[in-house]
Amino acid sequence: MIAVHRTAEEAEAAVTSVLIETIARKADAVLGLATGKTMIGIYHRLVRAHRHGGLPLARATTFNLDEYCDIAPDHPGAFRTYMRHHFFAKTNIDPSRIHFPAEGGEAAFERAIRIAGGIDLQLLGIGRNGHIGFNEPGSSLTSRTRKVHLTPMTREANAEDFGSLERTPTHAMTMGIATILDARRVILLATGAHKRHALADAVDGPVRAGNPASALQRHPNALIVCDSAAAAGIEV
Ligand code: F6R
Repeated sequence: MIAVHRTAEEAEAAVTSVLIETIARKADAVLGLATGKTMIGIYHRLVRAHRHGGLPLARATTFNLDEYCDIAPDHPGAFRTYMRHHFFAKTNIDPSRIHFPAEGGEAAFERAIRIAGGIDLQLLGIGRNGHIGFNEPGSSLTSRTRKVHLTPMTREANAEDFGSLERTPTHAMTMGIATILDARRVILLATGAHKRHALADAVDGPVRAGNPASALQRHPNALIVCDSAAAAGIEV
């Protein structure tokens, strides 16, 4: 299902409501989380809800989609730093329930998801090349958590977090596409005209490894939320 909102703010509010409802229904919900510029507004809204008492997080468990390889966990560009800054440190989330994929720990990460009972709601953004998590074009639709090589486009998009393209990591750990599709519910947020082509291709095109987000067509409970700028290329 696709929900098109007029503005990015309205789209963010809609995604935030789904997250809040999920926690309201199940205090020990298992959340799959994403980083990136698109998600900053979501975490801001969640923190606001938490501060107003509307979002108890003490019993929630989180699994982040991805993390760079070969950087310290407190590196300013690390996704752990992003999550701490935008969300974790501003809530009462239990640090022992926070998980990130780590090199060498692929099987343990997948096992931890299974032990937690599976992901109730997976939050996703989309790259300009259609990537979800760091599953770049060409990733197998049956892929699981693993180490991947980042494309030049993705490294350029994230270079400002590292000061230069040369300093931007070349590899990352990511949940696989099959791992993502295992989540009981998936919600993808796309905002801005720069996501127009990737989103239209993911929605109107065939399911194919060339556009990893197209795999969501195979998910029985996937919701795509976007603003009108990101939706501009969609035909169906
Ligand atoms: C990050 C992630 C990525 C981003 C995507 C969009 O955890 O999963 O797939 O969602 O690169 O990033 P932004 O929002 O910065 O355009």
